[in-house]
Amino acid sequence: MAEFTLPANSKLGTGKTYPAPPEAKRVREFKIYRWNPEDGKNPVIDSFAIDLEQCGPMVLDALIKIKNEIDTTLTFRRSCREGICGSCAMNIDGVNTLACLKAIEDIRGPVHIYPLPHMPVIKDLVPDLTHIYAQYHSIQPWLKTESAPPPDREFAQSVEEREQLDGLWECILCFCCSTACPSYWWNGERYLGPAILLQAYRWINDSRDEATGDRLDALEDPFRLYRCHTIMNCTRTCPKGLNPAKAIAEIKKLIVLRR
Ligand code: SF4
Ligand code: SF4
Ligand code: FES
Repeated sequence: MAEFTLPANSKLGTGKTYPAPPEAKRVREFKIYRWNPEDGKNPVIDSFAIDLEQCGPMVLDALIKIKNEIDTTLTFRRSCREGICGSCAMNIDGVNTLACLKAIEDIRGPVHIYPLPHMPVIKDLVPDLTHIYAQYHSIQPWLKTESAPPPDREFAQSVEEREQLDGLWECILCFCCSTACPSYWWNGERYLGPAILLQAYRWINDSRDEATGDRLDALEDPFRLYRCHTIMNCTRTCPKGLNPAKAIAEIKKLIVLRR
C-alpha cells in the first residue's frame, strides 16, 4: 500500500518511533495503531523498525517480536499461528486478513497495521467481538432435530449431502468479511453481516437439520438478511477463500422458492 498522510483534522496522532538496531541488515518499518483506554489519550501510530533477518516471515512473527523485544504492552490476539483459530484477524496493508498467513515480503514499503475496521476497540489491535458473537448465537449454530436419533449410530449423511457443507464448514469466524462489508459498517446493529449469514446457511444446508423453515423465517427480515447489496467485499477479503456473498444469495433464493 502506498504511504499515506493523515488528514489535518484526524484525531490519530503520531506516537513513538523505535529505530532498528545499528547492526540491522534488512530493515522494514511497521506502523501500528495503538490505543489504550486507560490513559485517556487519542490513538496514535507507533513506528517500529525491524531487522527482517532476525524475524520470522509473517506479519504475526513481527508483532510477536515487537512484543517480546521492544514493547511488551503491544496488545493483539493470536493462538494457532496457522490460519485455524481466526483470532489474529486485523487490517494489514489496507486489507482485512490473518496476521499469521500474511507474508511480510508480500507487502511493499512500511507495513500498516490497524484493528479490524468499524468495530469498537478494546486495546491496540483487539476488537470487541461481543456484539458479533451475540449475533452468531442468535442464529442458533447447532444441529436441531425433531426425529429421535438412530439407536445405534449418529445421524448419517451421504457423501453428496456432506459435500453440501464444503465451502461453509471451513469458516473460522475471523470476521474479516463482516468488518469489510459497508452494509455491516452502517447497519451492524441489525444486519447480521456475511460471516454470520454464511454460518446460518451452513445449518440451513445441513441435510440432518430439521429446523430449516424456522431458520429461514428468522432471517426473512429487511435488516437481518436484506441489507446485503452484493458489494462482494466479503468474498474478496476472506483469508480462507470462502464465498459468503454466494451463501447469502443462496439463502435469499431459498426464501423466494418456498413462497
Ligand atoms: S456481498 Fe453483501 S455481505 Fe458481502 S460485502 Fe457486500 S453487502 Fe456485505
Ligand atoms: S467467511 Fe471467511 S472472512 Fe468471513 S468469518 Fe469465515 S473465514 Fe473469516
Ligand atoms: S493465529 Fe490463529 S488464525 Fe492466525
